[in-house]
Amino acid sequence: MTSLAGKRIVLGVSGGIAAYKAVEICRRLMDEGAHVIPVLTKGATRFVGRTTFDALASERVQMSLFDEDDPIPHTTLGQTADCVLVAPATARVIGAYAAGISSDLLTATLIATRAPVVVCPAMHTEMWEHPAVADNIATLVERGVHIVGPESGRLAGGDEGAGRLSSPADIVAAVSRVLDVGEKRSDMAGLSVVVTAGGTREPIDPVRYIGNHSSGKQGYAFAEEAAGRGASVTVVTTVDRPGPLGATVASGVTVVRVDTAEEMAAATADAAKEADVVIMAAAVADFRPVDPAGVKLKKRDGVPAIELEPTPDILASLGASKPEGQILIGFAAETCDVADNAAAKLNGKGADYIVANDVTAENAGFAHDTNEVLVLASDGRVHSVGLRSKRQVAQAVLDLVVADRDGRANVR
Ligand code: CTP
Repeated sequence: MTSLAGKRIVLGVSGGIAAYKAVEICRRLMDEGAHVIPVLTKGATRFVGRTTFDALASERVQMSLFDEDDPIPHTTLGQTADCVLVAPATARVIGAYAAGISSDLLTATLIATRAPVVVCPAMHTEMWEHPAVADNIATLVERGVHIVGPESGRLAGGDEGAGRLSSPADIVAAVSRVLDVGEKRSDMAGLSVVVTAGGTREPIDPVRYIGNHSSGKQGYAFAEEAAGRGASVTVVTTVDRPGPLGATVASGVTVVRVDTAEEMAAATADAAKEADVVIMAAAVADFRPVDPAGVKLKKRDGVPAIELEPTPDILASLGASKPEGQILIGFAAETCDVADNAAAKLNGKGADYIVANDVTAENAGFAHDTNEVLVLASDGRVHSVGLRSKRQVAQAVLDLVVADRDGRANVR
């Protein structure tokens, strides 16, 4: 595969432990036919030797703003690049780039380029979650910089959490997407897909609600994957996008914002009428206050007794009125007996597939960037999808859906 043939890619490597993974990224970019110019920060060389990149890349490593042969290397690099990729990007590089400070060759190149920029953050969770870093990332996203990752997982020093560099394969795939090259799948072209995402909010009073931990990330990953494969997608969701650090919403995706289970039920039923595939990834509250207060409940009035009633089961009613040929996918968020509970939901709700996960498992479920699921099909097949990014989980499930549709078409 040489999908990046002829593309000049500046590979910026900054000083974090994940710098060693940049070697693999460099090799993969070279394998795809790219012309790779490594630019290392001083910090990067504490983690990985420049000789390694010298040996692997198309050109020797550059580090200095004041080169002997080229008096202005950063403008040369910036102007001639098809893409500037920074992997790993430390909090310092992200901050300098967001603030327009060019203290070394890498940050100067970032500011001097008009080429698309892909930034792959990697740092400890505390740093990643610091408001300064979050603000800088949000600034870069607003300016059109592509942010890839980070993922959650094991970090330096044995800690666990968000901040791990995305995998080299995902990063190279992201570069291909940004440059609009590479293999494009269009196996969902012409299909209409409805996805629900996020947790519903059932009001107690004007300021309080019953909610849950769902972030909407898995639902949006389905939406983006289906849109990327050519489908026209409607997301019925309680979250505008999965957090300030999430990906921007792809073109081909229409977002319908709702809050409550009732609103989600109405919007989903409407969108699902003409849909080929419906994916109920939302975490719908099962109960809601019967009579939400019109004004804020006051402490001085004592602990309120809130009477609850069931919400509509959206998946079950979609299952009961499913048009012929439509594929209906439900989820099962479980904390124990995952396969048995999921099988009961598959049968009870009239779904074609249930995507089940143990929400207490490490790095899976609510708010994580990764997931690990069991997919149960109504014909008895069970597929296990090991820990991977939510986008890859979406890809695996949609692969089943496409194969299923192809199978049905062949039978006819
Ligand atoms: N679901 C729904 N409407 C509800 C509750 C759940 O459409 N009122 C859907 C979810 O979107 C998911 C599936 O049903 O696709 C299973 O949701 P889950 O929360 O795992 O199970 P519940 O049906 O709520 O059952 P329980 O909470 O008892 O496990």
